[in-house]
Amino acid sequence: MTTPKPNQMWGGRFSEAPSDIMVQINASIDVDKRLYRQDIQGSVAHCEMLVAQEILTADEGDKITKGLAAILAEIESGKFVFKTELEDIHMNIESRLAEMIGDVAGKLHTARSRNDQVATDMRLWTKQALAALIEEISVLQSILDKQSGAHAETVMPGFTHLQIAQPVTLGLHLQAYFDMLERDKGRFADCLDRMNESPLGACALAGTRHNIDRDLTAEKLGFRRPVRNTMDAVAARDYLLEFLSASSICIIHLSRLAEELILWSTVQFGFIRLGDKFTTGSSIMPQKKNPDAAELVRGKSGGIIGNLMQLLMVMKALPLTYNKDMQEDKTPVFETYDALLLCLQATTGMIDTMHVNKERMHEDAESGYSTATYLADWLVKNLNIPFRQAHHITGQIVQAAEKKSLKLHDMPLADMQQFESRINKGIFDFLRITGNNS
Ligand code: ARG
Repeated sequence: MTTPKPNQMWGGRFSEAPSDIMVQINASIDVDKRLYRQDIQGSVAHCEMLVAQEILTADEGDKITKGLAAILAEIESGKFVFKTELEDIHMNIESRLAEMIGDVAGKLHTARSRNDQVATDMRLWTKQALAALIEEISVLQSILDKQSGAHAETVMPGFTHLQIAQPVTLGLHLQAYFDMLERDKGRFADCLDRMNESPLGACALAGTRHNIDRDLTAEKLGFRRPVRNTMDAVAARDYLLEFLSASSICIIHLSRLAEELILWSTVQFGFIRLGDKFTTGSSIMPQKKNPDAAELVRGKSGGIIGNLMQLLMVMKALPLTYNKDMQEDKTPVFETYDALLLCLQATTGMIDTMHVNKERMHEDAESGYSTATYLADWLVKNLNIPFRQAHHITGQIVQAAEKKSLKLHDMPLADMQQFESRINKGIFDFLRITGNNS
């Protein structure tokens, strides 16, 4: 790090340079350099608006936009040198612009503050992040759709309390996740719709006396309209909290699926075998195939939910408008995005490559008296017995079957008739699980 001089952006009223510790605690460049594209995009829109409003001349605007384009190229080719003492992405870019085009660079910040600038950058970034997550969820849904189509007739036990409850199909089970993910997409889409407004032009908090055109910058940046209230524009981070909440709910769904894949691939369940591409071996036990990807999806849910808590705590009780605390919004948001995207991709891979053991699933579906509810339903439908009573009779039949170690469909008719004499052989149609177990 070079010896700090009074800050070139705001050092006018300072006679001393910040201490090294101040520079370190203040800097966010390591994290927010990720916003370089949005920062340049926002600056170009702002500059074009300043020219359109005749606040800058066309020539000045031209120099600035060309300079910004050159900086974009430098960053993308890895040549740009990010400096900690320049704090953040905004000042790193502006300072480089001044090196490139001279004093005219200083005109870019007319009618703008880093407060509306960072809010704009972050909204632009979040918009693309939301769109990318929606897209990735759709990919996972298409694989779930493919597998549930292939397993529309694959019988498996359905569980409540992790006890065998009633027979279902793997198709039905996977479709439940499809639908959860559809709601996750809806939550991301709602968030996108609500946050699609431009903070640019709010400046520090109170707008500006320059004759700016906030509608124009909003339009250029693809926002529906400007954020109405300038104080709200720089202070609001609820769209990030929504992003983190929707992400937390989504990873909860993925963690439930991951847990099932982990359980189902155990020797004890034996319902599925995960593909080699999404499992690992053990360095000591040669027979092992571990569901690491599923375990990591499950594990990463902790970090994602923690990130939501982190930003909620950072924002709690912050007075209006901008406070530097809010700089801490970026790490949890970026981390959540990266982790969730990876978890969606890993889940897609696991579901796509899993091998299903239909025989095991079917066998298990038949155990645990999973058709007992059907038996009770038969009594209600065919003998007009009230359900509570039918439930009781069925309970007695299950107990008798258990004593004889027989499955319900193997119980002799006479044995069942001991508990209800009107039961006839039609009942067996209800007790046998059909479905493709070839
Ligand atoms: N790096 C800052 C952030 O991420 C930019 C805004 C700084 N604003 C200020 N008034 N110091 O929040």
